[in-house]
Amino acid sequence: HKQADLKGRRILVTAGPTVEPIDPVRFISNRSSGLQGYAIAEALAARGAEVHLISGPVSLPTPPHVTRINVQTAQEMYEACLAHLPVDAAICVAAVSDWRADTIQAHKIKKKGDEAAPTLSLVENPDILATLSHAEQRPALVVGFAAETTHLQDYAQQKRQKKGCDWLLANDVSKHQFGGAENQVLFLTGSGVEPWPEMSKQDLAQHLADKIASFFHQEAP
Ligand code: C5P
Repeated sequence: HKQADLKGRRILVTAGPTVEPIDPVRFISNRSSGLQGYAIAEALAARGAEVHLISGPVSLPTPPHVTRINVQTAQEMYEACLAHLPVDAAICVAAVSDWRADTIQAHKIKKKGDEAAPTLSLVENPDILATLSHAEQRPALVVGFAAETTHLQDYAQQKRQKKGCDWLLANDVSKHQFGGAENQVLFLTGSGVEPWPEMSKQDLAQHLADKIASFFHQEAP
């Protein structure tokens, strides 16, 4: 029955941006609102799943019956995700910062007037989706998102393979504003691509929850 068809399933959802400090007052981040990830966490919990939402800083209420773990940096999100294994499914919706400052300055970087602007040296953050996809305790289902501006289907299919996830939801961010209320995706799996119509982030979450429920229904003995 739809209402509790994910009962007993432990599901990890990442959502929101990460925030990477530069000095005590400055940071690197992005425009992720957290809306899509929170809608997915809510839809899964409403169907009985035990949802652990690993969230960057957003201004959204925690959905009902969801356990929320707040993090700031990609490194913290990565560690929180690994600490929650094993799970049945991992849905990586967070807009994780690709890079962080290689050193966080203990004091505010000062303008010195005559000198050149400071250079920010960056290092790459760990890829949470790829790590979960290759983990020893790999979830039975790993799902990622991809925001592209060109060659949507080709780049997304390459990304799905490169990351090693099962499903990838790809959207064209040149058409849909990052952080907006609506979404339109291509749903990519190992066996093909389904273009989903434009819909609200809540409706997209319901569609994805349907797919996840039927995945586990088919998997059951
Ligand atoms: O490579 P790209 O950032 O486009 O991949 C997007 C997907 O990978 C999203 O599902 C995002 O949550 C995930 N990701 C991640 N850790 C990173 C970068 C991206 O989990 N460091």
